Amino acid sequence: MKYEKMEYKLKKALDKERYIHTKGVEKTARKMAEIFGEDVEKAALAGLLHDCAKCLSLDKMLKAVRDYPIDELMSKNKSLLHSAAGRCLAESVYGVTDPDVLEAIRWHTTGHAGMTRLEKIIYLADIIEPSRKPFPGIEKLRKLCLTDLDEAMHEALLMSLEHVSKQGKDLHPDTLSALEEYESKEQIQKIIKEGEEKNED
Ligand SMILES: [Fe+2]
Ligand SMILES: [Fe+2]
Repeated sequence: MKYEKMEYKLKKALDKERYIHTKGVEKTARKMAEIFGEDVEKAALAGLLHDCAKCLSLDKMLKAVRDYPIDELMSKNKSLLHSAAGRCLAESVYGVTDPDVLEAIRWHTTGHAGMTRLEKIIYLADIIEPSRKPFPGIEKLRKLCLTDLDEAMHEALLMSLEHVSKQGKDLHPDTLSALEEYESKEQIQKIIKEGEEKNED
């Protein structure tokens, strides 16, 4: 499928805000790919399609992944499931065959251990694209995303852990595995404990 046709289809599948976010991720992923020597066209395509399932109902997302393995946590949570559903739709509806692009879409919500450079770029571009509502630490993360991909991943995963711990929730096991590549288990436990204490206050 031609790129323009994908854009046209996507515009109809997403709400306005999500489409603006999508174009922001596409642009940011392209820029990061140039900096870190990744394939720019793959990065742009994965950025464009990463949220292609985001505006679907849980039922429709589950239909999209009926032949694709997902875990139980994911099956109940749209904000996690749309990445696997998006991966399936990118293939079946948008005609993407490149496994690198499909995997980058698949892992953009949780991350996982042993991420590829393209997966890291999409994971991060999703968090820092220009239309994202500012959150504490975003400017520091934006700078790291232009200079050091692994430091940026480390920082983004830590932020994610702090965020969910404060809400009294658990980090998805795949995200935890991703973080364990950058951070000691002791430090991770410490952050979880601190988050729990803040949550009790
Ligand atoms: Fe997403
Ligand atoms: Fe996104």
